[in-house]
Amino acid sequence: MKYEFDRTLDHRKNYSYRWGMPGMPEDVIGMGTADLDFTCAPCIREALVPIATENCYNYRQHTPEYYDAVVGWYKKNYNLQIEPEWLSNVPSTIGAVRMALGIYAKPGDAVIVQTPVFSPLRWAVEGADQTLISNPMKPVNGHYEIDFDDFEEKIRKYHPSLYLLVNPHNPTGRVFTKEELERLVEICYRYNVRIVSDEVHCLILYGDNRHIPILAVNQKAQEISVQIVSLSKGYNIMSLPHAIITVADPQMRQAWMRQIQAYSFGYAVNSFAIAAVTSIMKGEADEWMQELTGYLYNNLQEILKYIRDNNLPLVPYVPEGSFLLWLDCSKAGIGTENLGRFFMEKAHIDLDDGEENFGSEGKGYIRINFAVTNKVLKEALERIRAALSEV
Ligand SMILES: Cc1ncc(COP(=O)(O)O)c(C=O)c1O
Repeated sequence: MKYEFDRTLDHRKNYSYRWGMPGMPEDVIGMGTADLDFTCAPCIREALVPIATENCYNYRQHTPEYYDAVVGWYKKNYNLQIEPEWLSNVPSTIGAVRMALGIYAKPGDAVIVQTPVFSPLRWAVEGADQTLISNPMKPVNGHYEIDFDDFEEKIRKYHPSLYLLVNPHNPTGRVFTKEELERLVEICYRYNVRIVSDEVHCLILYGDNRHIPILAVNQKAQEISVQIVSLSKGYNIMSLPHAIITVADPQMRQAWMRQIQAYSFGYAVNSFAIAAVTSIMKGEADEWMQELTGYLYNNLQEILKYIRDNNLPLVPYVPEGSFLLWLDCSKAGIGTENLGRFFMEKAHIDLDDGEENFGSEGKGYIRINFAVTNKVLKEALERIRAALSEV
């Protein structure tokens, strides 16, 4: 292994959300918030040091190198040809979603989304005074599928202005296929529903799973969609705030850019974020990503094997990408409520309670972040086994 994924960092000292929430026991293991426990690819430090050395943080433009890197990244990885003028940058993915809700829907409008849904996305819809319409994902043989009939029926019934697509999907771990995306686009196009696509989890993929950005689906998708990505989840640069927004359709873009101007986000160019993103999109962290994916895959396989070998009463929904495992605990004899509290009290593990963080379809589930060192993972599995054995 070339990179230091086994190295333990002191995340309590760096004010990590995951490890350092007030009131947590000293020996708590943080498996909630979706970031990584690892140091970043070396190219990130190399990109940031010259900026800190110059020590000047004036208003900055995006560099030509940045635009070349983003356009090249989409072409190389997805065979998607975008134009530099389709691009803009805002400080966060959720912020971009919230902006899109304000631009393409009015207060009182309906917004359809596959549930369970990540709470901040729900808050974005509620914060825009819009109504969230749920299209529940269907669990089929340990794998979630989209209920297309329900999706179309709800669109006919509630006439949503927008479909908030989360692909790859959090928390179910699904990476939607081209076929699924084509069907979704077809329905949205037919009923005049625009698509806001949150693709923040697209960077880490297992096996043959391939991410397809919404604008790479087809021409119809380009006419009705806003594509949002951030490199934060894959490369652990959450505190280098950025989200990259791509809008192909000229009218939709005009409306979008008007608000970029209104928020003055053209000036809010974080020089550190832009430098890190440029380096990553030029491919300088590709080898690191390959190794990270292997490390996370091994962690995931270890959890699945541990559950099988120890007959733990947990049903995993194996993620096709990212680093979050959705587990059905309904057969564990621990009830279906306050599961976060159970694991905190009995195992000193802070993880995400399904209902609290993802709504009613998350009841009886937990989500664990397995982007921890393998040593920490082993300790967590032991603690989970011990806690469940006492039930
Ligand atoms: C689906 C989804 N979108 C957005 C975010 C957060 O992205 P950002 O920090 O860029 O707002 C997360 C974080 O877990 C997420 O799971």
